[in-house]
Amino acid sequence: MWNSEQEAREEIKDLVGQYYHQFKAQEMDHSDFRPGDRISYSGRVYDEKEMQALTDAMLDFWLTTGRFADEFEKRFAEWIGVKYVHLVNSGSSANLIAFSVLTAPELGERRIKKGDEVITVACGFPTTINPIIQYGAVPVFVDVTIPQYNIDVTRLEEAYDPEKTKAVFLAHTLGNPFDIRAVKDFCDRHQLWLIEDNCDALGSEYMIDGVTKYTGTWGDIGTSSFYPPHHMTMGEGGAVYTDNPLLHRLILSYRDWGRDCYCPSGHDNTCGHRFDGDYGELPHGYDHKYTYSHFGYNLKVTEMQAAIGVAQLVKFPSFIDKRKHNWARLREALSDAQDRIILPEPAGFSDPSWFGFLISVRPESGLDRNQVQRFIEDHNIQTRLLFSGNIIKQPCFDDIRGTDAYRVSGKLDNTDFIMNNTFWVGVYPGMTDEMIDYMAEVIKEAVK
Ligand SMILES: Cc1ncc(COP(=O)(O)O)c(C=O)c1O
Repeated sequence: MWNSEQEAREEIKDLVGQYYHQFKAQEMDHSDFRPGDRISYSGRVYDEKEMQALTDAMLDFWLTTGRFADEFEKRFAEWIGVKYVHLVNSGSSANLIAFSVLTAPELGERRIKKGDEVITVACGFPTTINPIIQYGAVPVFVDVTIPQYNIDVTRLEEAYDPEKTKAVFLAHTLGNPFDIRAVKDFCDRHQLWLIEDNCDALGSEYMIDGVTKYTGTWGDIGTSSFYPPHHMTMGEGGAVYTDNPLLHRLILSYRDWGRDCYCPSGHDNTCGHRFDGDYGELPHGYDHKYTYSHFGYNLKVTEMQAAIGVAQLVKFPSFIDKRKHNWARLREALSDAQDRIILPEPAGFSDPSWFGFLISVRPESGLDRNQVQRFIEDHNIQTRLLFSGNIIKQPCFDDIRGTDAYRVSGKLDNTDFIMNNTFWVGVYPGMTDEMIDYMAEVIKEAVK
């Protein structure tokens, strides 16, 4: 039927392309938007290229991490500007790995042990802090500033415990970088690890002393999520990245079952010493492939996910531009409502790649956040909260609330304010100017 496998592939991919244009392309086209049509807070933006890349991976039928994952890691590393990128199956897994590697014995005195403290904030996504608690280390919650929605860096020193503090683990809230210069100075001064949860900020830039770099690359480890609403997608997926060769080796080990061996899947004896090593109390020459130096996981990504990511990477720079455009247009359109609502502000020295648009109602003007949100949702516009609000108030804390499983440094007044008064709407690249303008109109109506 076909003269070669290549010919078969091309024909199948061509058909998939036709399928996209006939049955899927209209999903991406919002040019006929009418007020009242659904406006999602986010969503995947794709075309036939993603579906064809997925088809390629399917026809390879390699399934587990392979050539597409390698290609993604290489291209992503070049784009973001780090030496080592490792794909994982979600942003939460990326955070779990980023934290876990800092507990490794190889890190000596700087290793995080049970009872050690990690400085963070309470108004974020749960899986930034869950690994800390699950391990038995102690998150120390510091308040945030409004309207940046990031850690109040003037409170860092009072949160520091010379015996216990080992790391700072923070997300760049909805794309807005935290004060990286101040946090980095603090970390350098006290020899602390810095993990940047970059899951909501891919493409945000930050400048220190005239040097501009992407967020996620300033600290020791950065993490990303490729869940569909995020800046680019693989369906499910994530990445952990670092410039540090030791952390790179540890990330691989923790991601891949905790093994000592670093052979790619399907390969054997990359190190050339598969049967002549001495490890732990194992007999001499025990197969390196089955030697475990850490208590790890298996959080690898599949080829199908990675293939979608490779296609998304090509479009990604235009996604960033569109997010910035949408955010700026909405900010401008809402500027005359500032007596009723607090509008977001980008961090100094930053150029954020926004994940969403945060709005806090001013309670002194008699507004109730839930009513405002309901009004907007009733107009078919999707809204979101700043995730956990104050994580300590969440039911997952019922069992540990008031115990020494966590510590609060100072007061969390702004965190509580956010829990009660803040929500956000989307700025994702699938939105048109008409959608943004309508959203602004409805929000203004809601807070009138
Ligand atoms: C700041 C932050 N970190 C981590 C995650 C987890 O990512 P994932 O959903 O891929 O597990 C999210 C999810 O949206 C997030 O917003």
